[in-house]
Amino acid sequence: MQDLKRAGVAVVAPHLTPRWDAEAFDILDTLASHHRHVADYQAITGLGSEQATALLKDDLRSAAPSLGAFVDHLMASVEASGVAAYVPALGLGGFEAERRARLLYALTVCIGEPSPTDAKNGRILWDVAPRRTGGDYFATFSEHDGEAAFHTDTQYYPAPERWVALYVMTPAGCGGGQSVLCDGAAVRAALDTPATRWALRALEERPLPFRVPSVFATDPRPGVVQATLAPVFSSCPGVRYRRDTLLDGWAHFPEHHDAEAEDAVRALERALADGQSAVRFRMERDSLLIADNHRALHARTAFSDQKRHLLRVRMRGDERREALNAPMLSKLRSRELEMGE
Ligand SMILES: [Fe+2]
Repeated sequence: MQDLKRAGVAVVAPHLTPRWDAEAFDILDTLASHHRHVADYQAITGLGSEQATALLKDDLRSAAPSLGAFVDHLMASVEASGVAAYVPALGLGGFEAERRARLLYALTVCIGEPSPTDAKNGRILWDVAPRRTGGDYFATFSEHDGEAAFHTDTQYYPAPERWVALYVMTPAGCGGGQSVLCDGAAVRAALDTPATRWALRALEERPLPFRVPSVFATDPRPGVVQATLAPVFSSCPGVRYRRDTLLDGWAHFPEHHDAEAEDAVRALERALADGQSAVRFRMERDSLLIADNHRALHARTAFSDQKRHLLRVRMRGDERREALNAPMLSKLRSRELEMGE
């Protein structure tokens, strides 16, 4: 685990995890009182307001003191170590799937405000599992089994969530699907050399168009393409990047593309591929990763085991009070691009 620590990832010891045996019943009871008539975890949606979530958080913390203490330790660990915390065994492995998911949800409520993962259904707990897609549907990493290159989550929204939780229900049995993390500040520092400083400046100053994947689009009209215009490095978020949403953004919004921007992104890709500040590790069943989505880039190796199943929850932190003014672009898909897809 030494590599994890060197890459800014704290490892949380099993004895610090919540006392689920003593508190699970009260946690589930508290959730049921706030989310009435919800039959399964996939149907859990946001409570509708920041205040309602804060109320649930207070109730959870008083019903389950060890859960609150664990979350405090977890978040202090992320802060102290840099970009993430890894919990090799959260302790939910003995519960059936529905309860594991609900207890994970309770944990995330104690961290921040869980945000709806798609515009259509508003569900909070997202199943990261391969599924069939086709046509002009733009599948995202959580929906396929290929390699997921270094990226930050929701880089295509003006205000990406601060925290991302990944919990392993079933790991890939094929040995693939490993997690990779990298500190954005280290990548920034790697670019701060006389030879590449021009690229760093461009990545700080040039707003780039990150296309919004279909499942997350806020404008449901057919043929409408959306992108958020923002630089890779800024003060908040510290880093924002995903290569394929950027390439797609450039294809649909070519007025934001030129040779300098493309060369700067190529320099960024070289720094990421260098892997100096990255760590790769296998997440086991019942393990949890909390990453600071404003500071860390993450990636995943390809896998073939179609039973691989993770749960992902994104949470807003204090950053939602900060002004993030990246504009979102919308336009009708051009005829040539429509025919090319
Ligand atoms: Fe991701």
